[in-house]
Amino acid sequence: MRVKLAAGNWKMNGTRAALAEVDTLVAEHGAASVEVLLCPPATLLGAMAERIGEAQIAVGGQTCHPEASGAHTGDISAEMLADAGATYVILGHSERRADHGESNDMVRAQARAALAAGLKCVICVGETEAERDAANTLDIISGQLAGSIPDLSTGESLVVAYEPVWAIGTGRTPTLDQIGEVHDYIRAELERRFGTGVGRSVRLLYGGSVKPSNAADIFAVSNVDGALVGGASLKAADFGGIIDAL
Ligand code: G3H
Repeated sequence: MRVKLAAGNWKMNGTRAALAEVDTLVAEHGAASVEVLLCPPATLLGAMAERIGEAQIAVGGQTCHPEASGAHTGDISAEMLADAGATYVILGHSERRADHGESNDMVRAQARAALAAGLKCVICVGETEAERDAANTLDIISGQLAGSIPDLSTGESLVVAYEPVWAIGTGRTPTLDQIGEVHDYIRAELERRFGTGVGRSVRLLYGGSVKPSNAADIFAVSNVDGALVGGASLKAADFGGIIDAL
């Protein structure tokens, strides 16, 4: 039985004042029956972890460097994320792939480092609108899964997030059938590569314009085990509504 996961990606949003939202979330959803994860900017990670304290809300990073330490100005290692209180890291988000040229090979190297540091990985895949229009969605997803996910992954340590690039921050979402088609495909690919034991225990999140009003319908789709939420994770009321829908 896969534990449902509501993951919030704050992206490059939030200063210490935003931690008030975390207090609300802890008060109202700090003992939720589903797993809750918040991935703030690195500057807030330690403070957020302290603020959450013993409540059942995990914190995670938004990327990490593939090496443990060294001369990499501005980068953060998986070990550092773990030291700051993270138990998860998002890897291969389309914004990282686009803004920083992170390739499948790079994401796989980051994931290896994250696993070595004891972090769970939320590895993101998803097609652009042009790729969908050209009927290439499943090929793109297949390549990203094969290239980005390390062999050492387990059902416990790996989460895959399907995020169509054209649905991120746009208010547009795929149809429920389209979400189901891709999630079923990802499940089958994972089972083929890792066997049914691991393949069936990896959680699959949908991401892209999830909000309280569409969450329940999306969560009812086969092989959707939760959501990776951007904009709607910044306010406790909205994110709480999504958690409640899981
Ligand atoms: O990581 C989260 C996704 O990119 C979704 O962002 O919920 O603002 O569309 P969004």
